[in-house]
Amino acid sequence: KEKIIIDADVGIDDTMAILYASASPVFELIGLTTTFGNASIENSTRNACYIIERLGLDIPVVQGASVPLIIAPEPPTDFVHGDNGLGNVIVPTVHKKPQSTLSAAQFIIEQSKLYPNELTLVPIGRLTNIALALRLDPTLASRIKRVVIMGGAFEVPGNVTPVAEANIIGDPHAADIVFQADWDVVTIPLDVTTKIMVVEKDLAQVAISNPLAGGFIKEFTQFYLDFHYEQGLNGFYIHDPSPFIYLEQPELFSTKNAAIRVVTQGMAIGQTIAAFSPQRERLPQWQHVKVNTYANQVDSDKAKKLLLTRF
Ligand code: BDR
Ligand code: CA
Repeated sequence: KEKIIIDADVGIDDTMAILYASASPVFELIGLTTTFGNASIENSTRNACYIIERLGLDIPVVQGASVPLIIAPEPPTDFVHGDNGLGNVIVPTVHKKPQSTLSAAQFIIEQSKLYPNELTLVPIGRLTNIALALRLDPTLASRIKRVVIMGGAFEVPGNVTPVAEANIIGDPHAADIVFQADWDVVTIPLDVTTKIMVVEKDLAQVAISNPLAGGFIKEFTQFYLDFHYEQGLNGFYIHDPSPFIYLEQPELFSTKNAAIRVVTQGMAIGQTIAAFSPQRERLPQWQHVKVNTYANQVDSDKAKKLLLTRF
């Protein structure tokens, strides 16, 4: 089994991703670290605790950063994920508490020492916690097996600005640090996540076949579905579960290898830029950046089928 830490701004599609990862036989969840974005850090952590409790999972939840490294914080994207980050479904009193002694960054470092070269980080929110962990322990990268991110937009427009995707523009400095570190990164950007779409009929089906988890999914995704309807779409995109689909069945994706960096200021802030040979070797700002990977195509039907099977 692949040992993973999920780092999430626990909103609606993050919750779907956590459900997917816990249902799949190929993952061992080592921990869930939280960040801000879809919800405030407090709501994100509370949602994480609630999901773990509801699923009866025994994995630690560790609270992380509440603001980006350098840019000014933005309010949570409650118009996509609801005021509570979970589509405004009623979250009952949660008994599970986050670990209190470590920060998310410290937890990631600690676990990398317990499981050297075995741990995969799967950040599905802003990359703040991961950048903080690298800053706290520059040797971290050498102990991590790989990093599989949901984020970026390469050959398609962004979803926040014409060039920027939410997880990257939410903390562009953090993302630029993560892409420049000496570890293997695969990013699953909007290029593929917007090609996998779930419609109302699919949700009704999972609710019938699995009333417990499927019914819950149908309930908390209603707000997300309505947001997508307002955008003129007839279903919602599968952003955060996609890195897990990739980890489980990489053959469903086509990828490109490139050095990747992030624009940290100006009109194109948050843009993910891919540099290929020979420019990569020729330009000084790229020479030190290792080659990573982004996904650019997906077999949408098969990816969706796998997702719905897990649900
Ligand atoms: C990403 O932004 C967040 O709203 C989603 O949870 C996802 O991680 C998509 O751009
Ligand atoms: Ca997310």
